[in-house]
Amino acid sequence: MATAATTTRLRYEAIKPKIGARVLNTKEELLSGELSEDILALMEERGVLVFPEIDFADHEQVKFSNSLGGNADELAGQNQDSVFKVTLDEKAQHANVVEYLKGSLFWHIDGTMNPIPIRASMLTAKVLAPEGGDTEFANTATSYADLSDEQKAEIEGLRVVHSLWCSAFYHTPEPSAEQLADWQSKGEAEIPLVVTNSTGKKSLVLGNTAHYIRGLDMKDSQRLLHGLRAFATSEPYVYKHVWKLGDTVMWDNRTSLHRATPYDPYCGRMMHRTIIKGGEAWDQ
Ligand SMILES: [Fe+2]
Repeated sequence: MATAATTTRLRYEAIKPKIGARVLNTKEELLSGELSEDILALMEERGVLVFPEIDFADHEQVKFSNSLGGNADELAGQNQDSVFKVTLDEKAQHANVVEYLKGSLFWHIDGTMNPIPIRASMLTAKVLAPEGGDTEFANTATSYADLSDEQKAEIEGLRVVHSLWCSAFYHTPEPSAEQLADWQSKGEAEIPLVVTNSTGKKSLVLGNTAHYIRGLDMKDSQRLLHGLRAFATSEPYVYKHVWKLGDTVMWDNRTSLHRATPYDPYCGRMMHRTIIKGGEAWDQ
């Protein structure tokens, strides 16, 4: 007699109409690899996925990330089999990385300087901030979809210069000449303001690295970029995750802005991050 194959189903609940889902499967089910395709499809649909108190050990988080497409090379020489430590505490992370991570307090997309964007990022809460240190996410696909036809026509075909050195002014407005030269040595990237992925979904590419729109007057350029960012990060499109220890959150990095809410940089807050390689360039 043949035994019936058991099939693990993805179980989840939506968080808000335009962003987010809570995945309710057990750790064992997530690590089995059976749900990988469904998880990626749900992330594509909902933008942000929360795995409440799933309590991944580092090797489990790496295994889970790999089952979804593998870790991209990380910063600061970290290799593909390890997690990256997100903290503002210089006792636990290199000072130049902490400097860079200060930008995480402002709306951004990870790795806009990469020609192939990071597909997804994943954080696991290891040490919580006693106050603040939540993470907010904004879905730039659902906000784009809600723009009027006139607004869509106005921004169609525009291209934005993204620069790391521009984003650094958000947290360090008076750099030394050496510091500025170092930031500027990281280069710039030009990306369409509206990108389309392989499924045909359109989204906005904004955030603290979005410096100016090619060919526009600086004032017009800033008004448009900041106006769109303000709309894209308004209430219907935003989910704020208030962390519990052991929570993992993963988000579609092509179609999400994110930022941490302020917290004491010396409080020890620690997130372990993995990232999933991208398969498609920004420019199709
Ligand atoms: Fe980030």
